[in-house]
Amino acid sequence: MRVQSVAVDGPSGAGKSTMAKRLAEQLGFLYVDTGAIYRTVGLYVQRQGVDCGDAAQVTALLPQIHIELRHEADGLQHMYLEGEDVTQEIRQPLISRCASQVSAIPAVRAFLMETQRALARQHNVIMDGRDIGTVVLPQADVKIFLTAAPEERARRRYAELLERGVSTDYDTVLRDLRDRDEQDTARSAAPLRQAEDAVLVDTTGRSLEESFAWLLREIEERLGT
Ligand code: DC
Repeated sequence: MRVQSVAVDGPSGAGKSTMAKRLAEQLGFLYVDTGAIYRTVGLYVQRQGVDCGDAAQVTALLPQIHIELRHEADGLQHMYLEGEDVTQEIRQPLISRCASQVSAIPAVRAFLMETQRALARQHNVIMDGRDIGTVVLPQADVKIFLTAAPEERARRRYAELLERGVSTDYDTVLRDLRDRDEQDTARSAAPLRQAEDAVLVDTTGRSLEESFAWLLREIEERLGT
């Protein structure tokens, strides 16, 4: 059987993971959150006491990192670092910033490329990230670029962090989000950008629910299912 892939790219807080997770469930595809992989590298770098922006030192750590991605019985993707489940810990704002910094280092991107491509060779996947439609899976069957205004993304992210018990405030979340947008878009290695053949979905002023129904139809049509 030929496997199929759906790429979902877009800036932080656009609702990619919520959307992709639900779409995957509906389509019976494997959901792959590539941001979580970069976050796990970021956590490791932090734990080693290395500056996340120091390309040479971060690159030197790569051969010794032991990262695993497992899809567990709860249907969710769990991240393991040296055998420890760090799925929750990698969501801390400090790790978000570090992940954005390490993801700008070409050696880090090259190091994680094969893991991502191998998953797409073995399974029907919905993969979310920043460069899935442009670099990781340029032959993806369907490409989605999901976005929303920064203020709206910050509101959603803030609510999500509060729910998880992370203490922060809206202005800090908005500032962090703008910084990460700038970092993810301006970097020279696989910057965030919409693939030419991607479907643009702007969820500003719309609930994810509304966009979900529309996207599901669009994807099913394009996949021919
Ligand atoms: O999607 P996220 O917020 O969990 O991603 C964390 C960081 O990882 C984000 O700032 C950019 C980076 N990233 C990337 O460069 N390429 C990807 N495919 C996924 C994430």
